[in-house]
Amino acid sequence: MTDREYHDLITHYEDAGRIMRTRLEILNQKLNRGPKEEQASCGPVHNIQWRIKAKESVEEKLKRMGLLDTSINAKDYLQDICGIRVICYFVKDIYDMADSLKRQADLVVMKEKDYIASPKPNGYRSYHIVVGVPIYCLDSMEYFPVETQFRTISMDFWASMEHRICYKKNITHKEEVREELLGYAETLKKIEERFETYNELHIEKAGS
Ligand code: GTP
Ligand code: MG
Repeated sequence: MTDREYHDLITHYEDAGRIMRTRLEILNQKLNRGPKEEQASCGPVHNIQWRIKAKESVEEKLKRMGLLDTSINAKDYLQDICGIRVICYFVKDIYDMADSLKRQADLVVMKEKDYIASPKPNGYRSYHIVVGVPIYCLDSMEYFPVETQFRTISMDFWASMEHRICYKKNITHKEEVREELLGYAETLKKIEERFETYNELHIEKAGS
């Protein structure tokens, strides 16, 4: 894939990512149920990160899939050229955000994986959804996928550390590390559940 082909490939994914980020930011405002004077700190979203897959990563993933590293294959086979990560405060915030997103009629849900309801055997927890975003050109429209991962702060902490330590890498003492990380995931889930009891927005709602 030439630099020019890569540039032409990613331009619509950048547009799709921009649209998705705006939608997510609007949802963060609309789902803000805090009192007016505290609204700056009461939305469901802690922060949003995003990235466009680098040319080398696109090529490397296609090769790993046994495909030629052409831009046509990238468009046909990769759903994570544009990736957005939404870090929320509470698990409920994740489902509120995702449910609202899914209700947006012009978006198409292409893939959904709930690793919160069913964590991966290594302890990974996160809610993934690939959404097709309509991109209008002069006289045509095409959907471009955006892989959106919703996580709480503690899920993101665990996943970032696990990725740093062992995701897709060969490491020594693999079994010990695996067990230790699984233990951390369970501990973090418990801590998260303790924090959940302090979710004053729920407490208020339950009492009202
Ligand atoms: P990929 O080909 O790796 O994109 O996986 P997939 O198509 O099966 O999709 P999946 O939704 O399972 O995972 C997509 C992304 O989620 C990965 O690229 C990572 O960013 C993240 N992810 C999935 N599993 C793990 C994991 O065990 N640990 C960490 N740290 N991240 C993970
Ligand atoms: Mg990926």
